[in-house]
Amino acid sequence: MIHFNNLLMLAPLAGYTDLPFRSMVKKFGVDITVSEMISSHALVFNNKKTFKMLEKAPEESPFSVQIAGSKPEILKQAVEILNTRSGIDIIDLNCGCPAPKVANHGNGSGLLKDLKLLVQSANLIKSLSTKPYTSLKLRLGFDKKIPLELAHALNDTNIDFVVVHGRTRADGYKKEKIDYDSIALIKSKIAIPLIANGEISDAKSAYDVLRLTGANGVMIGRAAIKSPWVFWQIKNNTNQIPQVLLQNLVLEHFDKMVEFYGERGVIMFRKNLHAYSKGRHNAHEFRNTINSMTNPSQARQEIEDFFGDA
Ligand SMILES: Cc1cc2nc3c(=O)[nH]c(=O)nc-3n(C[C@H](O)[C@H](O)[C@H](O)COP(=O)(O)O)c2cc1C
Repeated sequence: MIHFNNLLMLAPLAGYTDLPFRSMVKKFGVDITVSEMISSHALVFNNKKTFKMLEKAPEESPFSVQIAGSKPEILKQAVEILNTRSGIDIIDLNCGCPAPKVANHGNGSGLLKDLKLLVQSANLIKSLSTKPYTSLKLRLGFDKKIPLELAHALNDTNIDFVVVHGRTRADGYKKEKIDYDSIALIKSKIAIPLIANGEISDAKSAYDVLRLTGANGVMIGRAAIKSPWVFWQIKNNTNQIPQVLLQNLVLEHFDKMVEFYGERGVIMFRKNLHAYSKGRHNAHEFRNTINSMTNPSQARQEIEDFFGDA
């Protein structure tokens, strides 16, 4: 049973929030983790890589799987596949992805242009899913903000909660475009719990957004890549960094990557090392070294040396 009160969610970030990363973040008290966006089409057509994206760590509970799609027959089959898998508590429908290859086919943020189809898709998932919760993750609109229309649409669905990212598709990720007032407006018009998302990076911004929007929780994405402990900071309402050695954390994350992906994990971990080393002495040289490495034990030694020097 989920308690929708100051709930903390890790945002889905394609290319980042895989099993190894989510299990690291879980240590810091995040309540709910979400898979990377999974194409309903790829799921139905039995793509091997896609099935790997459904795996979760045992400590991830509740766990949400986010799917993208808008074709009723494909969504139906995708939900039927998810119904056969245990350990999934929430099916989330992506209604925010701005990428042209997604939105141009009417999926992701494309659904914000067809609210009738959005409502139908949401209700289709809710009616077929055997999981306890169904949710939507929305932006504020496609080209323009339509908070009231979105609230009406949400009231026409049977879903259990909604996550709202406070920007339109056209706003991309522009910092100055974030709009918590429109999130507050949606919250005031709907009965289901709402989780607010966008530009939350520490305890202060989390509590500010909760107050401004009246939301039942917050979802954090990019700030967690550099600071997975941000959820611990919010839970404890502090700016302090928890007493974990960054070296241990990075090594553990690295080991999980190699365990999950094999040697490929060394290359996939480069982006995480960029985030972890940001602002540290000799980070530039460290990145150059790491970018040329593929051997797990050599890379591990470099990580140990670099983060051990701190
Ligand atoms: C690299 C990257 C990948 C993302 N992938 C997804 C995704 O798969 N599904 C989704 O709903 N949103 C995705 N988003 C959007 C985030 O979930 C989130 O809504 C957005 O980053 C704003 O939150 P933040 O300011 O806390 O990062 C992605 C964003 C980024 C930067």
